[in-house]
Amino acid sequence: MARRTVVAMPGDGIGKVVLPEAVRVLGAVGFEADWVEAGIGWDHWVNEGNPLPERTVELLARHRVGLFGAITSKPKDKAAKELSPALRDKGHVYFSPIVGLRQRFDLDISIRPCLTFPGNPLNFIRRGPEGEAQEPVVKAVIFRQNTEGLYSGVEWTNPPGPVREALASHPKFRAFAQTPSEDLAISTRIFTRRACRRICEQAFAYAAEHGYSSVTVCEKPNVLRETSGMMVEEGRKVHQRYPGIELWETNIDAQMMWLTKNPEDYGVIVAGNMFGDIISDGFAGLVGGLGFAASANIGREVGVFEPTHGSAPKYAELDPPIVNPIAMILAAAMMLDWLGEGDKAARIRAAVAAVVAEGRVRTYDMLKLRGGPQAVAQGAAATTQMTDAVIAEVRK
Ligand code: NAI
Ligand code: MG
Repeated sequence: MARRTVVAMPGDGIGKVVLPEAVRVLGAVGFEADWVEAGIGWDHWVNEGNPLPERTVELLARHRVGLFGAITSKPKDKAAKELSPALRDKGHVYFSPIVGLRQRFDLDISIRPCLTFPGNPLNFIRRGPEGEAQEPVVKAVIFRQNTEGLYSGVEWTNPPGPVREALASHPKFRAFAQTPSEDLAISTRIFTRRACRRICEQAFAYAAEHGYSSVTVCEKPNVLRETSGMMVEEGRKVHQRYPGIELWETNIDAQMMWLTKNPEDYGVIVAGNMFGDIISDGFAGLVGGLGFAASANIGREVGVFEPTHGSAPKYAELDPPIVNPIAMILAAAMMLDWLGEGDKAARIRAAVAAVVAEGRVRTYDMLKLRGGPQAVAQGAAATTQMTDAVIAEVRK
């Protein structure tokens, strides 16, 4: 088999810290690949007027698999101010390069496993009927539609005339008819049947493959009748092909309320873009938060794997670095799953589980310390020490 090439996109801030750590773990588990580094993020915006350089897009198109760290993103006006003077007033408009990647390669399936590692001091704890502490084992895997919905970018402040006219053709728009256009902000929620079907199909297929007994479609069809309604409809259709799996339907608001009541009851959960974003952050918070949350962005041809956290600029320059590399390492394991190297992925997850359970090596977040240069003196493991511990387990 031809040797594989993986596109490494460290990005900004701690993306540059954690990505090399994941590459070390991949090496330790015997994953053989050539690595090509590709730029993405703030520096490219500032110096080139494009946070997602074409070279990066081309490399991904060629090699089809990418490991991504994190980027720094800032609001439009700040972005415009930081643009290098030579590039100003040339029509460059900042956009999120990760959203850009999802749209360029139609990475329409986002997968976010939220799995409890026993022994993690950050695990959610609740009280049982006798007042006893309970630590439910969460095993939720969220399938989030990644390219449409409220994040598709079709939005206006001061909508152009034809848009206003089209909206005015809807009886419910009467309530806004007197609002001046410049006081009107509109973000559209666009769902397509094709994308709804695909996310539901992927969710059920995953549930079947991994032995889950339920798939929950989490939307809000009683209010968002058209968009949520379409997702639920497609979920029901796909469900007919999986008689052994139960289909549950929940509303996003109620689901968030139940999050801490019975999180262990949920298996695979499928949702549109925004609700999927919310629900996956909610579940991630029960199993360790940003130091543990990883996600996959998968299209028909290209897969990009990333930790959920951002660039955490205030920790980017610390020496030694203190951030938890586990989220990035788990993202690398998801990449191995997608590449058909499930055995190696399982070894990485088992190694992380062993390190967490043993509890000897813990980064500052796991010790609930305030982040900063003092954390190491207070007993926190540095980033590289956590990686070393995982690698030592892999090698056992
Ligand atoms: P963030 O995720 O970068 O950091 C928030 C806080 O979470 C940090 O201050 C730190 O306390 C903790 N944290 C994050 N990663 C950690 C890790 N690996 N280990 C231990 N603790 C960790 O989010 P924030 O501060 O809201 O955003 C910073 C920048 O990152 C912004 O420019 C934002 O736009 C961007 N961002 C990028 C994302 C991406 O690249 N996918 C996602 C979220 C934010
Ligand atoms: Mg999010």
